[in-house]
Amino acid sequence: MNSLIQTLPKVELHIHIEGSLEPEMMFALAQRNGVKLPYASVAEIKAAYQFENLQTFLDLYYSGAKVLQTEQDFYDLTWAYLQKCAAQSVRHTEIFFDPQTHTDRDMPFEVVLNGITAALQTGREQLQVSSALILCFLRHLSAEAAMATLEQALPYRDSLIGVGLDSSEMGHPPSKFQAVFDRARAEGLRTVAHAGEEGPPEYIWEAINLLKVSRIDHGVRCVEDPALVDYLVEHQIPLTVCPLSNVKLCVFETMANHNLKQLLDRGLCVTVNSDDPAYFGGYLNENFEAVQTALGLTNEDLKKLAKNSFRAAFLSDTERQQLAIG
Ligand code: HPA
Ligand code: ZN
Repeated sequence: MNSLIQTLPKVELHIHIEGSLEPEMMFALAQRNGVKLPYASVAEIKAAYQFENLQTFLDLYYSGAKVLQTEQDFYDLTWAYLQKCAAQSVRHTEIFFDPQTHTDRDMPFEVVLNGITAALQTGREQLQVSSALILCFLRHLSAEAAMATLEQALPYRDSLIGVGLDSSEMGHPPSKFQAVFDRARAEGLRTVAHAGEEGPPEYIWEAINLLKVSRIDHGVRCVEDPALVDYLVEHQIPLTVCPLSNVKLCVFETMANHNLKQLLDRGLCVTVNSDDPAYFGGYLNENFEAVQTALGLTNEDLKKLAKNSFRAAFLSDTERQQLAIG
């Protein structure tokens, strides 16, 4: 591993905590909770991770998440990810979680939240990893279900920094969730949304204009609309790009075809992130390493990406400075 990548202080802004469920932990939790998995071994789970697009991944990802059944399971999951952060010089992380994946199979919202937030607190104290939590709505479900989830979360408002939008993008434009995002912003929550991963540039415009997002998750299809690229540069709206995810889900055929360097050189506020590290073959530093090797990134490019991650985070200037040097 390139030593600059290893030692650079970094922020992660696009990580689904359910996507950090390693096959070994999935297998162990299935046994602990008496859940039957459609795989006989860890090797079989790993062999199943061949995806044609976002949906084929999501089908496995939601099925894998069923092994998460108790507060302790969510604690263990989050704790394992935070230890990775500490080992990779990730100083701050803004973590997505998908409550509907769990409440729809009758897990209480607060059991999920309590497990995650307890681990985050231990991570601050024992690992000096700073963190914040973003509740994501599943866009393949209805706007009413998203609103009900937000209502369920509001008693725990102080545990959240914002809301986001994930799951199947095509056919579920950001406009579908305008009312719930309006309500979230009225509660002082920040907003982000997945857009332009598989969906068209129009979805990125909707996320900006209707959901008033502070960042776009993925956003790599912005290049198809030059006016949009100009806008993203002018307003420095960050893109949370996930290189290994994009190749695994066939958004780009190979890493050499990825447009990250093109976006960076064009002046966009690009950041590198892992998305679902247990499914896509690596955590944050492996994503940095993959783009550096395939796209020939310079040390200046790497420093710029790390700097952008601090700029794009929901941190005060004082917190930003302390974390970058601390
Ligand atoms: N896109 C949409 N939904 C997701 C993703 C993603 O990359 N990862 C986990 N849920
Ligand atoms: Zn994602």
